[in-house]
Amino acid sequence: MNNIIKWGIIGCGKIAHKFAQDLSKVPNAKLYAIASRDFDKAKEFGKKYDVSNYYGNYQDLARDQEVIVIYIATPHPFHHTNTIMCLNHKKAVLCEKPFAMNIDQVKEMISTAKMNNVFLMEALWTYFLPHYQYVIELIETKKYGKIKSLKADFGFEAIFDPNSRLFNKKLGGGSLLDIGIYPLFCALSLIGIPEKIDAKAVLTSTGVDEECMIQLEYKNNINAHLYSTLNKKTDTEAIIELEDANIIICNRFHEPTSVIIESNQQSKKIEFDVDTYGYNFEAIHVQEMLAQNRIESTIMTFEKSLQLISLLDAVRAQIGLYYD
Ligand SMILES: NC(=O)c1ccc[n+]([C@@H]2O[C@H](COP(=O)([O-])OP(=O)(O)OC[C@H]3O[C@@H](n4cnc5c(N)ncnc54)[C@H](OP(=O)(O)O)[C@@H]3O)[C@@H](O)[C@H]2O)c1
Repeated sequence: MNNIIKWGIIGCGKIAHKFAQDLSKVPNAKLYAIASRDFDKAKEFGKKYDVSNYYGNYQDLARDQEVIVIYIATPHPFHHTNTIMCLNHKKAVLCEKPFAMNIDQVKEMISTAKMNNVFLMEALWTYFLPHYQYVIELIETKKYGKIKSLKADFGFEAIFDPNSRLFNKKLGGGSLLDIGIYPLFCALSLIGIPEKIDAKAVLTSTGVDEECMIQLEYKNNINAHLYSTLNKKTDTEAIIELEDANIIICNRFHEPTSVIIESNQQSKKIEFDVDTYGYNFEAIHVQEMLAQNRIESTIMTFEKSLQLISLLDAVRAQIGLYYD
């Protein structure tokens, strides 16, 4: 029983429920405590997932001596404050994407993790999924040659509500930070840092981006066309053009899915057997990192998070998307 890792969750919203379900499938993991701004909500969540400790504020969870690692599932603008509070209580942190609202906040989170000598990682769950790891290996080993281009999109139709997390500026609304981060991460993880960024967006009456188009240019004429929208359902695929094949990460490319390889006029579909939402893979990785006494992931490194937030900041500057 000694190697059981006790987890806590901050914020009882949509993603917290999915993560709690997947965490129950992770060996040696126990969802031990849950915190909400509303005690009754935490209690209800706790009962649903057999959690014995529930709190009506986030700080009490951070103070819980038994908790080893905290998953932060609040809206983006609170990631920075919530993470720093947990790190200062010597808790390891897995914080939802986007890591924070800008690079200065991310740098402060990383330096706080280093100062307290505790683990910190951005919950970029796609990176840990079997199909995505498979594609990364194909690209890194150049099995089908070098990348020539990437096209990736993520769109769904959200009902416009100025007070909702998706459209309210104070809650970090907009397509880019919520879903556009996935096509951007796809480009970063598969191709790297671009030489040129060209971004355009359509803003809502609440001043956040309803849709965002990003064109990235790299050396050797490699380019990436990325798109996110809260306005309509899109293919939500990633199409990678290589010298000797096309790789299609099927709908929806950021979550457990299949991969198609088209080469020599033949098409091969590879299925990956995943019976969860897919959040268990990042949680398993966190536990492995903790077992090795690391404060930084070997996959979703601090550097990768800094690169990702730099790209998001650069796109935001171009489309005139500013948050308080
Ligand atoms: N990895 C993924 O697949 C994925 C998917 C969806 C979302 N996310 C990320 O997870 C985060 C949360 O998304 P979500 O869809 O779960 O959001 P949500 O359903 O709105 O839940 C967010 C929770 O944060 C807490 N919160 C704290 N301060 C808040 C405030 N001022 N207003 C509203 N809520 C507040 C609330 O919990 P309490 O009331 O219990 O305190 C709320 O239930 C976002 O950063 C998002 O990018 C990731």
